[in-house]
Amino acid sequence: MKKRILVTGGLGYIGSHTTVELLARGYEVILADNLSNTRAEVLDGIHSIAGIRPEWLNVDLADPMACREALQGRNLDGIIHFAAFKAVGESVQKPLKYYQNNLFSLMNILDYVKQNPNCGLIFSSSCTVYGQADNLPITENAPVKAAESPYGNTKQIGEEILSEIAHAAKLKTIALRYFNPIGAHASAKIGELPLGVPQNLVPFITQSAAGLRGPLSVYGNDYPTSDGTAIRDYIHVLDLAQAHIIALERLIENGQESPMEVFNLGTGHGSSVLEVIQAFERATGQLLNWTFAPRRAGDIVAAYADTQRATEVLGWTAGKSLDDSMRDAWAWQCALNVAKKDA
Ligand code: WQD
Repeated sequence: MKKRILVTGGLGYIGSHTTVELLARGYEVILADNLSNTRAEVLDGIHSIAGIRPEWLNVDLADPMACREALQGRNLDGIIHFAAFKAVGESVQKPLKYYQNNLFSLMNILDYVKQNPNCGLIFSSSCTVYGQADNLPITENAPVKAAESPYGNTKQIGEEILSEIAHAAKLKTIALRYFNPIGAHASAKIGELPLGVPQNLVPFITQSAAGLRGPLSVYGNDYPTSDGTAIRDYIHVLDLAQAHIIALERLIENGQESPMEVFNLGTGHGSSVLEVIQAFERATGQLLNWTFAPRRAGDIVAAYADTQRATEVLGWTAGKSLDDSMRDAWAWQCALNVAKKDA
């Protein structure tokens, strides 16, 4: 009997990559996505890669009745909850939209899990909860600092709600704190699909190199780092997807050591913005136009993960390099351009 997994936000960036990995490992997958930040064509990409077209529920999970109706009687073995708004800048402009969507959807999912406590829940969290950590690399015990944005606050509050409910109801839950997800599936059939002007570094790089945007603005060259530009831990989205499956299987096999466990998901290496640009040019042969610009409000200087816990407890480490990620991101951008031309 196939294990049945609900992937919320399953037509999104990390959700779609995790879905193809789940399908490849023989899971039955049900997707829930209301297309608020993606396109229905992603399902075609999943189908083309996996050879299976998962069931898709077009549902607003922040609506308690709609969520309850969609999940009723599904007998889920696990839920991977990606569905959330995630644009830091937008969250500052529209905080209520972020609190309502991100927290109501989590609480509605928790309603189902409370009634079905054997269903494991993986919560998509973020290294944002650490703010500018005092020590690098960042371990899971690093203090959670005051959020720099409503988006980051929804991840912090989400983890608090999850922990409280999981301990009270003896649930099986894991929060995964991602560092910076980048790259795309090697098939170039799915990838990051920012709607509008990309806020994140790598999609802006690929769109600029493709001639869809002007030169990249490098936000700040006066940070206390080796080359003056900010440092992040860029992890390939497929490495991230595989970590989700390992965490899910830990819960299905009742291997968890507490009702809520937390893991950092990163490569353990920090790369500056200039090093990302160099990796892009090296891996793709494309030259990038860029210019220094003032620092972006809310940005931290540096963040990269201590990956020891994920390695020792989950037996997982990221395998792909920054160059792999750049190559895959560029191949995806090129495929998008071709698709646009054909449209
Ligand atoms: C990376 C670096 C920028 C754009 C955020 C969220 C995190 C996650 C990923 C959701 C920074 C610099 C960027 C540009 C630049 N979100 N940059 N020019 O801010 O580290 O993380 O997105 O899952 O939770 O906090 O990612 O890609 O925006 O920025 O110089 O046009 O690139 O200043 O140093 P960030 P990012």
